[in-house]
Amino acid sequence: MGAEDLDDLTRLHLDARVMATMGGVRSPAETTEWLGRQVDHWRQHGFGLWMARDRATGQFVGRGGLHHVEIDGRNEIEVGYCFRAEFWGRGLATELARASVRIAFTELRLPELVCFTLPTNGASQRVMQKAGFRYERDLVYKDLPHVFYCLNASAWQATAGDRFAC
Ligand SMILES: CC(C)(COP(=O)(O)OP(=O)(O)OC[C@H]1O[C@@H](n2cnc3c(N)ncnc32)[C@H](O)[C@@H]1OP(=O)(O)O)[C@@H](O)C(=O)NCCC(=O)NCCS
Repeated sequence: MGAEDLDDLTRLHLDARVMATMGGVRSPAETTEWLGRQVDHWRQHGFGLWMARDRATGQFVGRGGLHHVEIDGRNEIEVGYCFRAEFWGRGLATELARASVRIAFTELRLPELVCFTLPTNGASQRVMQKAGFRYERDLVYKDLPHVFYCLNASAWQATAGDRFAC
């Protein structure tokens, strides 16, 4: 993800349907600022969010990956994902979440990952479950109720064969 992705991200962040579960639409100025933070995250940590593109056409379909987040005063690494509405229901978020988990545990050797979302975001929770995450607890994040899921490296390694059989 870099400065060249600003237009695609601005359009994504202006779509009310996509952003309903992500704190609401973001203005172009907010997306510019947000993208700057993502680029800094890559520089600082050597990982971050990716742009997801259709393999055949190169068309932008969504974004996601690994990033630091503070939850209840604790630094965690979250797997996040957000896709253009036209591309929902094709397994893309699951593909991206699973790839993020694999990279986190095999290449980056991170010990644990988290995921969280609104309790009403059934699709996101299903993606978490398919990527191997387990519900841990409810939490309040940015003044809203959320469900919090975790996955640690040893639990993932124990079942990785099953998860990546396809
Ligand atoms: C959540 C989101 C990333 C899912 O992306 P996607 O590419 O459609 O996800 P997938 O196709 O990989 O998987 C979706 C799964 O959720 C299921 N699902 C869809 N709507 C659901 C609902 N309301 N309740 C429960 N499950 C639901 C699908 O059936 C599918 O499961 P299945 O493969 O077992 O049938 C996408 O809807 C999105 O970008 N939403 C807006 C941003 C967002 O909410 N991001 C997550 C913030 S934590």
